[in-house]
Order: sequence, then C-alpha cells, then structure tokens
Amino acid sequence: MEPAPLFKTVKQMNILVTGANGQLGNEMRIVTKGSKDKYIFTDVVEVEGVETEMLDITNLDAIRRMVIEYDVNAIVNCAAYTNVDAAEDNYALAEMLNTKAVENLAWVMRERNGLLIHISTDYVFGGDPYNTPCKEDQKGTPTGIYGLTKLRGEEAIQREASQYLIIRTAWLYSEFGKNFVKTMMNLTATKPQLKVVFDQVGTPTYAYDLASAICDIIENRKFEGNNGIYHYSNEGVTSWYDFTKQIAEIAGNSTCDIQPCHSAEFPSPVKRPAFSVLDKTKIKETFGIAVPYWTDSLKVCMKNLMKA
Ligand SMILES: NC(=O)c1ccc[n+]([C@@H]2O[C@H](COP(=O)([O-])OP(=O)(O)OC[C@H]3O[C@@H](n4cnc5c(N)ncnc54)[C@H](OP(=O)(O)O)[C@@H]3O)[C@@H](O)[C@H]2O)c1
Repeated sequence: MEPAPLFKTVKQMNILVTGANGQLGNEMRIVTKGSKDKYIFTDVVEVEGVETEMLDITNLDAIRRMVIEYDVNAIVNCAAYTNVDAAEDNYALAEMLNTKAVENLAWVMRERNGLLIHISTDYVFGGDPYNTPCKEDQKGTPTGIYGLTKLRGEEAIQREASQYLIIRTAWLYSEFGKNFVKTMMNLTATKPQLKVVFDQVGTPTYAYDLASAICDIIENRKFEGNNGIYHYSNEGVTSWYDFTKQIAEIAGNSTCDIQPCHSAEFPSPVKRPAFSVLDKTKIKETFGIAVPYWTDSLKVCMKNLMKA
C-alpha cells in the first residue's frame, strides 16, 4: 500500500457523502456550500429536485466504482439503519447496513489510503447503570440490535480502516425528515395533554451543528494523525420531558398540559439508555470546536421550521 497522503498538501479533496437525503446528510449539503473541496452527495433513493448520485453502501463493487470514478479521498458516512424499534425484528438488515456496509466503506478507503468519517450513536451505551457523562473509551454495552450493530460497525472500522474518525452523536434533530422536535411541535399544538418520559437523560444534537463540525475538521485538514472515536452532541443535559417543554415554549404552544412520566408507561421493544450524556472534551480539545448550547440550537432550528 502507498503511504497515507498528507492531506494538508491536498488543495481540493473529493468527498463522498452517503445517506445524503437523511437528516445529517441534508445538513452536510448546506454547510459545505462554498467549500474549497468537492462534495458528491449519494443515497439509495432519489428525492425530486435534489441532486443525488445513487449509491447503496451494502454493495461493495458499487462503492469501489464510484470512489474510482470521482477520485474520492474521503467518505462521510451518514447512511444507517436508524429505526431503533424496528431493528429488533430486522437484525439482518440492521447488521447489513450498520456493520457490513461500514466495513465495505473501511475497505475501500483503505485501498485508497483515504479517510472515513463515520457517525455512530449513544445507543452503543446503556446496558450498565451509570450517571456520569460517557467517555469515548467507556465499554460499549448496547441494549438492542441498533446499538449492537452500530458498535460492531465501529469495531470494523477500527480493525480495517487506515484513516478514520468515528463520531458518536445523540438525539439528532434537524429541519429534515422525521424527528422528535417536529413530532413534538405538532403534538403540543394539537393535543390538550401529553405525557413524556423524564427518566431518560441525554443531550439533543442539531444536525446542522454536527455537520458544521465535520466540515470544519475536513476543510482545515484537522483529521490528520487524529484517528479515533469522538463524541459530539450539543452542550447541556436534559430529559425528553424537559426537551418537550422547551419545544412547546419556543413554538408558543401553551395550551397543552405536558406531564412527566416513567419509561415503563410506554412499553418499547428496546430498553433505551437511561443516561446517555456524551462527554465532548476530546473533540473540543483535539479539533478546537466550539459546541453550541442545546436550547440555543433548538431555537435556530425551530425558527427555520416555523418560517418554512
Ligand atoms: N437520528 C438520531 O436520533 C441519531 C442519534 C444518534 C446517532 N445517529 C446516527 O447519525 C447518523 C445520521 O442519522 P440520521 O438521523 O441523519 O439518519 P437518517 O435521517 O435515517 O438518514 C439515513 C439515510 O441513509 C439512507 N440509506 C438507507 N439505506 C442505505 C443504503 N443501503 N445505502 C445508502 N444509503 C442508505 C436512508 O435512506 P432511506 O430513508 O430511504 O432508508 C437515509 O436517507 C446515523 O449513523 C445514525 O445512526 C442518529
């Protein structure tokens, strides 16, 4: 294998984004406008009016062909099987996308000495009781198929990739697709009463902020020599109940009576992490990233949603 290129000397990188029609992928489209690098946005399904190359990341040959065609130096993997509950009945599909396909990406980038930036999740944690923010080297203890297959994907990258960053995030929301913020904006506007769990604690993440951090790391070639796992969410700590209260307040939905409840009141196929606050010290210190406070980012996203 050729020695890894010194990207600091590469004026323009060619970067392939997978899952570009999802929440994070769409925010990547926004934040990379005007970048000195060339971005190629890919997904499995076409969306009308959005320029997207078709790429199924479970197809190793298809990845190889596209990477050669566009002379790709780096991949940002935003594609995943993200339906946490449905994963319990769809192990093969979740494993194919969250583990095997991730290994495919790692292989292809290793063949080219390229960089793989992969997004993982706080759901790799949750099995052990703890109440301090999770560090990158804390042992993975997933409680369901989604978390398990994502953890295996991380392991495949650590085993197979040459240059990589694994960025774990949590409670992702954006202007795009379905997410908690959009659901609660609607429910608090239309329901007289709502119960929301207060015994699951974490930090929301505005996908725009995460995409901006990824773009900064690539644009300024900060990744060089910094292989590893990193954590990124917004700053602060909250519960789903408090998150909902904030959403209702910003939206001006004052007629809905929002009450806290226990997770046991909403039986789910998966036991969700009770405390999945991510410690972000490493990503902030390594890359010099300033992380916005969660309510500040929530206001920005909701302002965009309300004027849309
Ligand atoms: N959402 C969260 O709360 C959350 C929390 C923590 C971590 N994460 C992680 O953050 C990352 C981004 O999440 P997100 O919420 O932006 O995901 P998302 O909105 O579900 O987007 C994923 C995209 O990947 C596409 N995709 C599905 N199968 C594919 C395949 N075989 N090849 C290529 N693309 C495929 C999906 O297309 P279809 O829609 O047509 O299937 C979708 O456009 C993921 O790695 C996720 O695990 C998310």
